[in-house]
Amino acid sequence: MSTELPESTVAPAEGPPTAPSRRTFIATTTAVGGAVAAGGLIMGTSPFGAEEAAAAEAPPSSRVSLTVNGKRHTVTVDNRTSLLDLLREQLGLTGSKKGCDAGACGACTVLVDGQRVNSCLTLAVRLEGAEITTIEGLEKGDRLHPLQQAFIDQDAFQCGYCTPGQIMSGVGCVQEGHTGSAEEIRESMSGNICRCGCYVKIVRAVEQAAGRK
Ligand code: FES
Ligand code: FES
Repeated sequence: MSTELPESTVAPAEGPPTAPSRRTFIATTTAVGGAVAAGGLIMGTSPFGAEEAAAAEAPPSSRVSLTVNGKRHTVTVDNRTSLLDLLREQLGLTGSKKGCDAGACGACTVLVDGQRVNSCLTLAVRLEGAEITTIEGLEKGDRLHPLQQAFIDQDAFQCGYCTPGQIMSGVGCVQEGHTGSAEEIRESMSGNICRCGCYVKIVRAVEQAAGRK
């Protein structure tokens, strides 16, 4: 009687390693990855390079070139930055005021390519190549803009907080030709709130600048 074992039960002799199964592969790579990450945490270091980690943490930003009051600026801004914050905090132009920061008061009004906008609602990154005019850009040398002069002549302010926005909006109102009547001016300026209630005098100032007085 033969003592030889059937072929299937014979332990394989040394041979080429068999390929790992998919399950074994995933388990191994997960364990290795976890060990690397845990090592980084334990050591107080990031598993990524310092630059990559900083880039991952930094808010998305963009470079934008725009002209403000005739002067070209190229700046890097957080993509969430409003034009108002760019003007006030990065360019130092604090004439435009932050009243509500929500598009409801008009204190932040500036001109973008000649159009009145609430700068608190306008994203700076969208203004590549735009021409911005703020209250600081109205006077020419020592000469006030006619509407600035008209506000003084008509005594059209009290605390003055809304005044830069009122004047910029008034400039837009005159340029757009919405000055046919006091009623039309009021309607055109209705987005600019004056908490001191100087509306009658503000309308008179716009009328004066439009040549109606
Ligand atoms: Fe922009 Fe009030 S601050 S509308
Ligand atoms: Fe005070 Fe208009 S002058 S809010």
